[in-house]
Amino acid sequence: MSLPHSIHVVSHPLVQHKLTKLRDKATSSTNFRRLLREIGLLLGYDATRDLPMMQARIETPIEAMDAPMLDGKKLVVVPILRAGLGLAEGVIDLVPLARVGHVGLYRDPRTLQAVEYYLKIPQDISDRDVIVCDPMLATAHSAIAAVDRLKESGAKRIKFICVLGSEQGARTFAEVHPDVPVFAAAIDAKLNDHGYIVPGLGDAGDRLFGTK
Ligand code: PRP
Ligand code: URA
Repeated sequence: MSLPHSIHVVSHPLVQHKLTKLRDKATSSTNFRRLLREIGLLLGYDATRDLPMMQARIETPIEAMDAPMLDGKKLVVVPILRAGLGLAEGVIDLVPLARVGHVGLYRDPRTLQAVEYYLKIPQDISDRDVIVCDPMLATAHSAIAAVDRLKESGAKRIKFICVLGSEQGARTFAEVHPDVPVFAAAIDAKLNDHGYIVPGLGDAGDRLFGTK
């Protein structure tokens, strides 16, 4: 499957192993939550490779040196509620000083369109790198709506991390937001008639929060 350049599949063995556990319907909510967090950390590691750096003067116990540190304002992690919360935990483990914004969206089960119910993000988001987190990129309506809102609010440097995308969703997202790189653990071939990713992992929010 050849994908648009902005879609990156993270083929690291640990990511793939944890994804298989996540897909397995026998995995409990407790383990699902832990695995999602761990995958968030590993995808976040890949997505933060090009953060801006600066040289800072420090003193080691031996001598003074110029050493690399992150530059600029702290990044913003933006989970798409609800399921994005589980993935964002891992990114926050990686960047504990990150600001956290929230976009509340649910997918209307009839139209599959995203309906917004909440938005709270830092006012100066235009000065910050932004990582949007949602485990599922199915039709891509939710991801597109979230990124639309963040861009309307001034965000300029956005990345999107997800566990699973559908091929259709990944292509749609890349067409609408070609400037937003996507980091995914896997891209599955199909969506079913209800807009679920096949083979997928089921309803991420319900499995994460034990609401089914
Ligand atoms: C799920 C998922 C994404 C969305 C993906 O959320 O977490 O946000 O569906 O589907 P899409 O790409 O077709 O828009 P859902 O609407 O079920 O809400 P929840 O996270 O609150 O369970
Ligand atoms: N949302 C989910 O949680 N799972 C899917 O497969 C599609 C949308």
